[in-house]
Amino acid sequence: MNTADRVLAILAREKEYVSGEDISSRIGLSRAAVNAAVKALRSAGYEIDSVTNKGYRLLSAPDVLNLGLLGAYISDERLESLTVLNSTDSTNKVLREMAFDGAPAGQTVIANEQSAGRGRMGRNFFSPRDNGIYLSYLLRPDVAPAEAVTLTAWTAAAMVRAVKKVAGTAPGIKWVNDLYMNGKKICGILTEMSVESETGRIDSIIIGIGINVNTAKDDFPEDIRDIASSIAAETGNRVSRTALAAAMIGELDKLNADWPKKKDDYLEAYRQYDMTCGRDINVISRGSVRPAEAITINDDFSLKVKYPGGETEDLSSGEVSLKLV
Ligand code: BTN
Repeated sequence: MNTADRVLAILAREKEYVSGEDISSRIGLSRAAVNAAVKALRSAGYEIDSVTNKGYRLLSAPDVLNLGLLGAYISDERLESLTVLNSTDSTNKVLREMAFDGAPAGQTVIANEQSAGRGRMGRNFFSPRDNGIYLSYLLRPDVAPAEAVTLTAWTAAAMVRAVKKVAGTAPGIKWVNDLYMNGKKICGILTEMSVESETGRIDSIIIGIGINVNTAKDDFPEDIRDIASSIAAETGNRVSRTALAAAMIGELDKLNADWPKKKDDYLEAYRQYDMTCGRDINVISRGSVRPAEAITINDDFSLKVKYPGGETEDLSSGEVSLKLV
């Protein structure tokens, strides 16, 4: 962490006046270094009050994701395995390189903006600056690939909890892992796996999550304006991206500890927030589109569908599109 982030983390945690001397002894740097950091933070838009004999107090901060502000919610130890970037091509790509270099499970990369955000099926994920959260999380479960398919659904349930905690409104889950509010997509999840060729076991799984947090409706490109939205556009309230990113990390750490033992907890949440069952859908698979009715979420998170002829199928991957009326 750089000096400005370390000073910011102290001010964001304390919320009260902290003396320059106290800050300097906590971070082990001179008073002059603390003063310089405060000056740099002020010119970056942080409002920091200073009162003689009392010290510094953070009055307001720009809505930017960084280690300093996240420090108000996350311990120093956890911050060590978190990388926050202003801009990158894709957080999944950055984390993939870190995974190749041996990063442990739990390693997390967040960006304020992505220039080449990746979505499922080779699509792009619209990732504008400072309005969304683009986060990738590393898992290293020691299992065969087929056993890990449920992680995606678990992640959807975990992200509903994070959004509900911070925004006060729970999104619905469109099978298997898109989150919706008022019929529009506010969050997408892309899970990428790498398998050891010698053993056939998983080397790493990267869960990439993109949430549209404060994006205005008109700021979405025209081609997705009717289908995508943000939490703020749907609830009418702006959300602290720092608080939401911290809640997402908390839920992902919990998932990492819970998987696969606490399945019932995640299955119950998944079914509670599911918005697919009981609806007419299109099943999209290898270029074909078949109309069907979504029946139920099975115990393994697969989706039971019924085709017009009465035949049923359990889908464990692929994509469905909802027919919204
Ligand atoms: C989808 O809806 O198709 C999945 C979108 C996943 C987007 C996230 S944003 C963070 C991570 N980095 C990426 O390049 N993609 C994922």
